[in-house]
Amino acid sequence: MIRECTDADFEAILSIINDGAEAYRGVIPPDRWCEPYMPAGELRNEMAAGVRFAGHEAGGSLVGVMGSQLVQDVILIRHAYVRTARQRRGDGGRLLEHLSETAMRPVMIGTWKAARWAVRFYEKHGFTLIEGDEKDRLLRTYWDIPDRQVETSVVMADQRALDEIVVGWDKPTAVKDDEIDIFRL
Ligand SMILES: CC(C)(COP(=O)(O)OP(=O)(O)OC[C@H]1O[C@@H](n2cnc3c(N)ncnc32)[C@H](O)[C@@H]1OP(=O)(O)O)[C@@H](O)C(=O)NCCC(=O)NCCS
Repeated sequence: MIRECTDADFEAILSIINDGAEAYRGVIPPDRWCEPYMPAGELRNEMAAGVRFAGHEAGGSLVGVMGSQLVQDVILIRHAYVRTARQRRGDGGRLLEHLSETAMRPVMIGTWKAARWAVRFYEKHGFTLIEGDEKDRLLRTYWDIPDRQVETSVVMADQRALDEIVVGWDKPTAVKDDEIDIFRL
């Protein structure tokens, strides 16, 4: 079951993010990894900045969360995590579909360039990988992240974002796993 999260879910959201983020260990650049991956204070700041979480509940408890944030003229999907033990069972897909269906604006997502599984996941749901100068421009326009994170991230855009927000993007093609160079970070 998908439901909107409330303040009472704070600890569960934090725990799911830090559990799910274990997937990044040893994959994202070492200088971008920290422990815990998401400190409580940072999550509080994100929520105060308007990130609202939807959660997927199974067996009476939350097992996955996905945030969304209205920024200027777009909706950003932020902090998408499913508990490690529950990954690849469709929970993340259901959350993404829910947020996409209810989004009133173009939708974009930023993720680590090295998280190839996440790029695949979003592509399966109709998002397009944006790289190069345009993804740098998008990250600097819509996200509040350090330069190093801009360098090591990519953007995924839905069709509406491609039509209305992304500039100069000409018929992108799906990227195969071995075409994303994780050493180019
Ligand atoms: C990305 C994530 C939210 C997707 O949620 P999920 O419930 O696992 O995804 P679904 O079951 O709906 O979809 C699974 C698809 O996603 C991709 N995928 C997700 N995790 C994967 C993994 N560890 N390895 C390879 N592919 C993976 C695959 O395309 C997979 O399809 P397949 O199982 O048929 O190969 C979840 O895997 C997760 O929390 N991952 C770690 C953190 C992360 O990468 N978050 C994204 C931040 S932007």
